[in-house]
Amino acid sequence: MRIMTTAGILLLALALALPVQAQDFGDTPYVQTPQNVVDAMLETAKVTAKDYVIDLGSGDGRMVITAAKKRGARGFGVDLDKRLVKLANDNARKAGVADRAKFYDRDLFVTDLSPATVITIYLLPEVNLMARSRILALAPGTRIVSHDYGFGDWPPDLEYEMDAPGKSVGRSQRSKVLYWVVPDQVAGRWQWTVEAGGKPRQVELSLNQNYQKLEANAKLDGNALPVERATLTGRNVEVLLTLPGRGSVTFSGTRINQAIEGTQRDAAGKTAPWSAVRVELRDAAHVIAPPPVVREFNTDAR
Ligand SMILES: C[S@@+](CC[C@H](N)C(=O)[O-])C[C@H]1O[C@@H](n2cnc3c(N)ncnc32)[C@H](O)[C@@H]1O
Repeated sequence: MRIMTTAGILLLALALALPVQAQDFGDTPYVQTPQNVVDAMLETAKVTAKDYVIDLGSGDGRMVITAAKKRGARGFGVDLDKRLVKLANDNARKAGVADRAKFYDRDLFVTDLSPATVITIYLLPEVNLMARSRILALAPGTRIVSHDYGFGDWPPDLEYEMDAPGKSVGRSQRSKVLYWVVPDQVAGRWQWTVEAGGKPRQVELSLNQNYQKLEANAKLDGNALPVERATLTGRNVEVLLTLPGRGSVTFSGTRINQAIEGTQRDAAGKTAPWSAVRVELRDAAHVIAPPPVVREFNTDAR
């Protein structure tokens, strides 16, 4: 048996490492999203003329061109393939939307995504995962819609399957549409005062957060108070508590620095202003945990 020298081992390691690295940095092949799936994705994200849409890996430009032509939005797409970038810009001109739909020869990982109100994406699951931390760092409320693949353990707010006639990968001619809203960070301990049972009482709400999912515990004047519901959608926090003498009260609002400002509404529909103060700041679990590594590509997206 031949024994490899140290130099030989290094060369082999380099040869093995190179293809892995090429795959890691954006080896998503060009596959078109069928037009009916493009339409469904833009409908799911409720794209309107107020939106700025960025397509990550834009192919022939169909996502942003459709958003501009059918919904009046603006935006751009980026792709590593120069020929596709030229085709997309030509298609935008032909569609009469070149002023609102632009395409650039650029790596999505060095693209400034901050103007986006909507991100569209059809990339391999492992590429999605690599983009996840940048997407989660976008302004809370930014909507994300993906064809076929998710972002690891970040649960979508909405997910469905649909027919995808003409789809060029997989045998099922079906596609998945997945939708998320970038969540704000509201983890911590919050306090406010309520009128309950004819006197002012102190509510304390403890929120742990993983992505948009909240785990909530509450106290009223130091005694446990059941939390019936606690949700976070983008910047909107909503908490449902049952208070003595008032029944179910929904507190909803948005965070501004270390306060939440909003409205409280009782079961009879009576509303009043609501404001809470964060007295302890915590990191959301997804901010602390490193992303898992996913290395599968199933063309039927199951
Ligand atoms: C599956 S296709 C999707 C095309 C189009 N968005 C659609 O849905 O019809 C993925 C595209 O992403 C491009 N791409 C892959 N990695 C990229 C990267 N790092 N930066 C920019 N584009 C990339 C590929 O060249 C390919 O055109």
